[in-house]
Amino acid sequence: MVTDSFQRPLKDLRISVTDRCNFRCTYCMPLDEYEWIDKKEILTFEEIERIAKLFIARGVDKIRLTGGEPLVRQDLHLLIAKLAKLEGLKDLCLTTNGALLANQASALASAGLKRVNVSIDTLDKEKFKRMTKRGDLAKVLEGIFAAQAAGLGPIKLNAVVERGVNDDDILPLVEFCRANGFAMRFIEYMDVGNSNNWTSAKLVAKKQIIDLIHARYPLREIGRDQGSAPAVDYEFVDGQGDIGVIASVTEPFCSSCTRSRITADGKFVTCLFSDVGHDLKARLRSGASDDEVGGFIAQIWSGRADRYSADRLAALNSSSYDPKSHRKIEMISLGG
Ligand code: GTP
Ligand code: 5AD
Ligand code: SF4
Ligand code: SF4
Repeated sequence: MVTDSFQRPLKDLRISVTDRCNFRCTYCMPLDEYEWIDKKEILTFEEIERIAKLFIARGVDKIRLTGGEPLVRQDLHLLIAKLAKLEGLKDLCLTTNGALLANQASALASAGLKRVNVSIDTLDKEKFKRMTKRGDLAKVLEGIFAAQAAGLGPIKLNAVVERGVNDDDILPLVEFCRANGFAMRFIEYMDVGNSNNWTSAKLVAKKQIIDLIHARYPLREIGRDQGSAPAVDYEFVDGQGDIGVIASVTEPFCSSCTRSRITADGKFVTCLFSDVGHDLKARLRSGASDDEVGGFIAQIWSGRADRYSADRLAALNSSSYDPKSHRKIEMISLGG
């Protein structure tokens, strides 16, 4: 097991399989034009499999595929089949916007995918279109139910809450999940990337979200899965399921962060808010041995000192935080 400079073990790997996305969510990537990664720079499935093995050998036991939108990557089920065979992997999951899920859910499940998290910020068709700029709510709902039918559960639904935009959707989303057996997760709006014009005024804090839900459907706190998950989970006192809140802004969880990330072009990134990636692909393609690439991964993780959200909270509390002062890799290249 490799630990970083704050003794945090390397446990999770989030692999972005493409930076392309069929949506343009206002809170993530509102720009129509963007400098997309050149096709030949994108990791092949064989390269991803090799990287995954090297991370598993150094302690990773959970892999999440992300994007952009991972389901726009051609034949993704073939990659799932390769990863599902890897010894030592306990969890293999995917975060998706759901638009292409209806067509792919059963192939993904047959290939060995265990579960999916699907983004859905509102149940209002028009608002959904406004927030995603290109999304069709009916298609996403079809995808979510197809995933449920294919056994890709427990299914978690993610909503980024933006003040004045979809804070009135919190209770309808909770009710939808309670009625259908999904776990709803609300995410505090974060200053990811450089393009979403984040301000703290757009934030709805975890406490407000929980108070609102608790007043209607009483909740009991469960805590973080494995002690290190981003979400704090709560169960409904009446036994009708559970919800989670991801409060990166008001209750940062950096002290227990075990998550590493790989961009679609093979850069190893040690924090969601990082501005640097360490080039694994160049090493793979120049003939480095497994020991060399694995040694490099361990070296980078050992030196890791990221705690962006904890530092941001301290700066917000002293009114000295300027999200634009720090350049970050775009969320669409990093997959959350
Ligand atoms: P589970 O494995 O089901 O617990 O999923 P997850 O919450 O780890 O992953 P998902 O892709 O569903 O992410 C939900 C939200 O959490 C997204 O907004 C991510 O950007 C955010 N998130 C995930 N990991 C981190 C992290 O390490 N730091 C921060 N700040 N946010 C994270
Ligand atoms: N703040 C919080 N979460 C975000 N996501 C995308 N942009 C943001 C943001 N600015 C979420 C998506 C998806 C996950 C990968 O990251 O909604 O669920
Ligand atoms: Fe929206 Fe996800 Fe695409 Fe970002 S990557 S624009 S959050 S669907
Ligand atoms: Fe981990 Fe960085 Fe997120 Fe903190 S901000 S939890 S260090 S990825």
